[in-house]
Amino acid sequence: MTQHIQVSTADHVTTIRLDRPDKKNAITVDMYVAMAEALDAAAGDPAVRAVVFAGARDCFTSGNDLGDFLRIAQGGGESARALSFLGSLAAFDKPLLAAVGGLAIGIGTTMLLHCDLVYAAPAARFRTPFVELALVPEAGSSVLLPALVGARRAAQLLLLGETIDAKTALDWGLINGVVDDPDAAATAAAARLARSAPGALRATRALIRRGDREAVHEAMRIEGQVFAERLRSPEAMEAFQAFMARRPADFSRF
Ligand code: COA
Repeated sequence: MTQHIQVSTADHVTTIRLDRPDKKNAITVDMYVAMAEALDAAAGDPAVRAVVFAGARDCFTSGNDLGDFLRIAQGGGESARALSFLGSLAAFDKPLLAAVGGLAIGIGTTMLLHCDLVYAAPAARFRTPFVELALVPEAGSSVLLPALVGARRAAQLLLLGETIDAKTALDWGLINGVVDDPDAAATAAAARLARSAPGALRATRALIRRGDREAVHEAMRIEGQVFAERLRSPEAMEAFQAFMARRPADFSRF
């Protein structure tokens, strides 16, 4: 159990809210587990018609907890339980929505690729600094991101680690709308979906995502292997220690 994930269900919509503001909503293993459990419960509950991911006003999430990554790089920690969230996310068969109030870093951006509708505040920023951390893309993003925004723009995000603002994310097709109150927009859209025919909704979502399903499954399998190797690499150790010491990483000796 963790107090950093708040799960609530109202009017047939489950909201999963990241709530660890002092650490910019960085996601720990316990938080991944809580989110996986919430998704699995929503999947199995016929009364739930849609799920909304939300964060804080200024921060959706700063991504995976880098302290957890450092522990894994040092030979401790665990990654399997965190991976259960990615499995639950990819397997989820009801509409997924997201409300992005501010920063969406790493998994904060890649999890959006599994969402059907994403609303962001004007201050939202999106970034996937995997290479900066000596890591590789995860959550199927190596196929989902180029498919969504194109290979050139995916290279700006995944290779250069560029930060894009909400307007650019909208122009690139990464999100559905830039709105002052993304929580309200996502909740309103989810409420609309909840009033529609649930069987038709699920079937339509499955049809829309039909082409992706196999490719995403395979991508997640391969990404997982490479990611696990990278996590234990000396390059990654340098990146995580640099973050903890608040200094730039130095990859010159590799
Ligand atoms: N993992 C662990 N802790 C994190 C974190 C993360 N991903 N992101 C932020 N934090 C912590 C900071 O260490 C700091 O903790 P402290 O107050 O105990 O020192 C606290 O959250 C606030 O972060 P801070 O860096 O002081 O805020 P900021 O506004 O200057 O910068 C970020 C915010 C998110 C831009 C910056 O923290 C950052 O770059 N985080 C790492 C993002 C990242 O690489 N994520 C992994 C993607 S795979």
